[in-house]
Amino acid sequence: MLPTIAREADAVVMIDQRKLPAEEVYVRCKTAADVARAIKTMVIRGAPAIGVAAAMGIALGMRKSTATGTQKFAADFHKVCELMASTRPTAVNLFWAIERMKRTFAAAAHAGESVDQIKDRLDAEAQAIHDEDVASCRAMGAFGAEIVPADARILTHCNAGALATAGYGTALGVIRGAVEKGKRVAVFADETRPVLQGARLTAWELVRDGIQTTVITDNMTAALMRQGKVNLVVVGADRIAANGDTANKIGTYGVAVLAREHQIPFYVAAPLSTIDLSTPDGEHIPIEERNAREVTHVGGSQLAPAGALVWNPAFDVTPHQFIAGIITERGIFRAPYIDSLKRAFEQEPATTR
Ligand code: MRU
Repeated sequence: MLPTIAREADAVVMIDQRKLPAEEVYVRCKTAADVARAIKTMVIRGAPAIGVAAAMGIALGMRKSTATGTQKFAADFHKVCELMASTRPTAVNLFWAIERMKRTFAAAAHAGESVDQIKDRLDAEAQAIHDEDVASCRAMGAFGAEIVPADARILTHCNAGALATAGYGTALGVIRGAVEKGKRVAVFADETRPVLQGARLTAWELVRDGIQTTVITDNMTAALMRQGKVNLVVVGADRIAANGDTANKIGTYGVAVLAREHQIPFYVAAPLSTIDLSTPDGEHIPIEERNAREVTHVGGSQLAPAGALVWNPAFDVTPHQFIAGIITERGIFRAPYIDSLKRAFEQEPATTR
């Protein structure tokens, strides 16, 4: 499986997603600040993956803390948590992972553990977040495979694959799960302007796996659907509000509107760590706006003239009415999401809801 992110004794190591598919290079982050920079600059990206990175970054930062007393150690811990929280605003997995690290810290401190013991606890918690994410993706793959037609032509947007998670993927996990069940699957990958996660990352992962992949530019989706070449859409998510409204990579909403017009089922695949019941609806999801250069340039080439204004939101919100189901590690949840998503957190059994 793809090594998206791993912990070494004195570093967090991640594949540099900015350089794929041209170069396969790994970045060694030796400090928490290095990890925060890697998240911000999208060396690592994808909601679950940045949650894992933040947790590992916190554990690494605390491992390297020179504090000997618990008070100074606690002050350092809160600073590192704040640093991670300041990296990217939309994907809730980041904040979910930081909260888990804070709870681990508080429980250990409350139990009177030493600084060294707390360091061990934080390392273990970060690794658990990583390992649970892989297990969740595999469970999503198994559930999601059920809704994949025997002869599937699946369109996906952005990259919700192994690279966007600790491994296996959410939307691409569903695709991998269907392939493992013996279904015939062909994938259409939207290139996903401006950062091109679809063309660069999704296609790279799927080609490596031997899954038939056709890259299209984002403006080809309507014509492709019109010609009957797509029979399922599966995308990932960065934050799902309590009512099911879903923030995902910019362009997802357009795909959902097109899917509805062409009567193609539109599914979201995401772990529970992406569902934020404290955000009532999509209006309340903070949307990151990124650097204008992502739009005006591709690689080193300038596309737009200096002086042109740029709007560059990294995400949009698909209203819940467009979503046929939300595939999670606990099963597939359906409308009304305001009830079903609440139930998702209340129960363990893994079946279709
Ligand atoms: O800006 P990015 O590349 O971090 O955005 C990623 C996405 O929008 C993904 O589709 C989403 O995080 C789901 S990843 C399993």
